[in-house]
Amino acid sequence: MKNEKPSPEATPALSPSEAGEERESSAVNTSRRSFLVRLGIGATLAAIAGQIYAFIRSLVPNVLYEEPRRFKVGPPDQFSEGVQFLEDKRVFIFRQGNTFYAISAICTHLGCTVKLQRLNRPKTVKVGNRQFQESVEFHCPCHGSKYYGDGTNYAGPAPRPLAYYKLEIAPDDGQLIVDMSQEVGQDFRLTV
Ligand code: FES
Repeated sequence: MKNEKPSPEATPALSPSEAGEERESSAVNTSRRSFLVRLGIGATLAAIAGQIYAFIRSLVPNVLYEEPRRFKVGPPDQFSEGVQFLEDKRVFIFRQGNTFYAISAICTHLGCTVKLQRLNRPKTVKVGNRQFQESVEFHCPCHGSKYYGDGTNYAGPAPRPLAYYKLEIAPDDGQLIVDMSQEVGQDFRLTV
């Protein structure tokens, strides 16, 4: 069999303008390819970075830093007779001679801070079988709950009395410690 070479007429030479168009189209194809390659590399790097971040984040524990619930508030002598409000701790410290007790300022309705109301003259109050004289009360500015001087709720939506917290004396420096993690009864007293 005889090999037939294509004749020059079968593949006609491109005109200068056609050749220019072909070069242009080839350049466009090349730059599109390189753009797609770069896009692919970028996506891969982003995925790797995401994996690394997730790995590093998994090494850091989810810790919620809360205020300590047991803290020193100073030496007992520093507290004068009557009541003192520790605003940053939301607690009232009461002193009667050598005895101390602490009442929470956190309203038992929805947690607003109650305000201390000093009465113009002492008032006799009866709670259950108990009768006592009070010179202060606690009123909540949010929804109007009211508490007697011993923390018992008597008006508004508050469902229960204000909490009493355990008090201790620090063995190392003699300071008063308030332990908000331990609620105690209304009759709790610390004598120093
Ligand atoms: S939060 Fe105190 S009455 Fe509602």
